[in-house]
Amino acid sequence: MAAVKSLLLVLLAVVAILIGQTVKVWSSRSPANFTPGGPYDTNLRGMLKDLVTLAVSYGGYSNDTAGDVPDQPYGLAICYADAPPAVCRLCLDMAVGNVTLACPRSAGAAMMYNNSLLRYANASFLSRPDMVQRFSFYNNLTRAVDAAIYAAALGRLMDRLAPAAAASLRFFAYGRTNITGDKSLYGFAQCVTDLSPDGCRRCLQRIAASLPIWTRGGRAYSLTCYTRFEVVPFYTPANTQTIVAVAPTPQPEPSPGAPTVETKFRDDAKLRKFRSRMALTGIYS
Ligand SMILES: *[C@@H]1O[C@H](CO)[C@@H](O)[C@H](O)[C@H]1NC(C)=O
Ligand SMILES: *[C@@H]1O[C@H](CO)[C@@H](O)[C@H](O)[C@H]1NC(C)=O
Ligand SMILES: *[C@@H]1O[C@H](CO)[C@@H](O)[C@H](O)[C@H]1NC(C)=O
Ligand SMILES: *[C@@H]1O[C@H](CO)[C@@H](O)[C@H](O)[C@H]1NC(C)=O
Ligand SMILES: *[C@@H]1O[C@H](CO)[C@@H](O)[C@H](O)[C@H]1NC(C)=O
Ligand SMILES: *[C@@H]1O[C@H](CO)[C@@H](O)[C@H](O)[C@H]1NC(C)=O
Repeated sequence: MAAVKSLLLVLLAVVAILIGQTVKVWSSRSPANFTPGGPYDTNLRGMLKDLVTLAVSYGGYSNDTAGDVPDQPYGLAICYADAPPAVCRLCLDMAVGNVTLACPRSAGAAMMYNNSLLRYANASFLSRPDMVQRFSFYNNLTRAVDAAIYAAALGRLMDRLAPAAAASLRFFAYGRTNITGDKSLYGFAQCVTDLSPDGCRRCLQRIAASLPIWTRGGRAYSLTCYTRFEVVPFYTPANTQTIVAVAPTPQPEPSPGAPTVETKFRDDAKLRKFRSRMALTGIYS
């Protein structure tokens, strides 16, 4: 009995830690409303539940629709692969619960957490890359003393991760490069799987260009892709062979005809306002 109780306490503690690891970073809603209790409402509620179940059972991504026009919602759910799978259901359940509370009659909405995204609308939005950086933050305020070397490392890492993610089965890639000596930089890039490989690559290049470079860690999100970097390893792939290792020395020129990948980094002044570490408690609507 005591053993069962303590096991329960451990489980509760684990759940609390996992929930603590998920924060809402952004949300939006369409101005159009539906009638509460009407067919759109019923279809939407059923679809949101299914989206979570499907995403949890099928590797972290799902899309779905329900009912018929004009009461047909379309939806998407994704859990980013750099978070533990156990976070997936917690994050998406939270998204469904909060979207229903925060946007009780909205025909379309999106809830973005640091580990998952839930999005729905009254028309299909799949396959179209969202090239707008909806949210970005940094999480390590240690200033770069070797800023140029550091920015170059981030640039060459992201230049490789964007096409690597686009070419991979599950549309994500994790990699590392050396900054100086034994210091490494780790990066992650992921797209929703309904994009084309080209749409995925372009989406990632666009948002990688807006990553904050004066910090030692950060993330950027659009509605269809996500990227992250840290100075410490933050993900362990099942197969370590899939880690993209980017050599610190300049790479040979790409052969003629090969796509040239170039990511420009800019210093977004707006982000400087995020003074406090993880200033993410605010809700951005
Ligand atoms: C999500 O953000 C919180 C802080 O805002 C952080 O503690 C947590 O580690 C993040 N989750 C993951 C999986 O990195
Ligand atoms: C979706 O909602 C918009 C209002 O924002 C409306 O104009 C449009 O007809 C709706 N589309 C469908 C397929 O119901
Ligand atoms: C809404 O999100 C907050 C954290 O942002 C969480 O604590 C809460 O449990 C969520 N509510 C629901 C109904 O999921
Ligand atoms: C923050 O950056 C410093 C300096 O590079 C590093 O030593 C430290 O481990 C980093 N912390 C995290 C949580 O990434
Ligand atoms: C990074 O540096 C370490 C030793 O400092 C070396 O073993 C490793 O091969 C380097 N990695 C790359 C990708 O060059
Ligand atoms: C929706 O998800 C299904 C199942 O994963 C997938 O086969 C399908 O291609 C997705 N739809 C689009 C438009 O990508």
